[in-house]
Amino acid sequence: MTADEQKRAAGEAAAELVEPGMTVGLGTGSTAAWFVKALAARNLPVRGVPTSEATATLARSLGIELIDLNDTGTLDLTVDGADEIAPGLALIKGGGAALLREKLVWAGSYRCVVIADAGKVLPRLGRFPLPIEVVAFGHKSTAARITALAWTTGIIADPVLRTSNGAPVRTDGGNLIYDLPCGAIEDPAALAAALNDLTGVVDHGLFLGLAERALIGTDRGVVTLYP
Ligand code: A5P
Repeated sequence: MTADEQKRAAGEAAAELVEPGMTVGLGTGSTAAWFVKALAARNLPVRGVPTSEATATLARSLGIELIDLNDTGTLDLTVDGADEIAPGLALIKGGGAALLREKLVWAGSYRCVVIADAGKVLPRLGRFPLPIEVVAFGHKSTAARITALAWTTGIIADPVLRTSNGAPVRTDGGNLIYDLPCGAIEDPAALAAALNDLTGVVDHGLFLGLAERALIGTDRGVVTLYP
């Protein structure tokens, strides 16, 4: 199977977890898109909360009713992709620049299920550069403080401003993304806590202790992982 076929299998398996009447968080990225398509194909009476404008556009085009996070109460289930999945279902997310809305929707959900192709499962986080969302004002100063902070957690690296076609990438919230090439993150919880405390950082792509299970598309079918 190709990676995309694995993503599709995981997305379709996750759609089977959805029950009529649920309010469902809709993730962002190519894997989550397979989930959204499979969910739409089931034609269930559900309401979706999109984690990005891109996902909102896709879901709307497929006829899924959308609802604002402000109007939902607690969501029943969120299904989303990831860039890396390590033991304990520690995740790196944000490769699609949607990490803030993703984390807000995840935080508002009873259950969060991560879906991915087999290549995303690793013994340790950090091969994928860690996305960090920062406010635009003074972002170079914030980036310098991220470098200093990383050193204190054993990561010798400079964050790189994410660009597209020569211009800085803007998130749906109008912020910027820096990617930190960590190499290996020995203590994700310590790094997450330090980033949470750094002025100018809006949020980061470490999703720890949030996923209740992972559905991984593999050549031998969809495998379920638990924390
Ligand atoms: C979006 O910001 C990300 O968190 C995605 O969920 C992540 O990058 C996975 O994307 P793919 O499913 O496209 O690999």
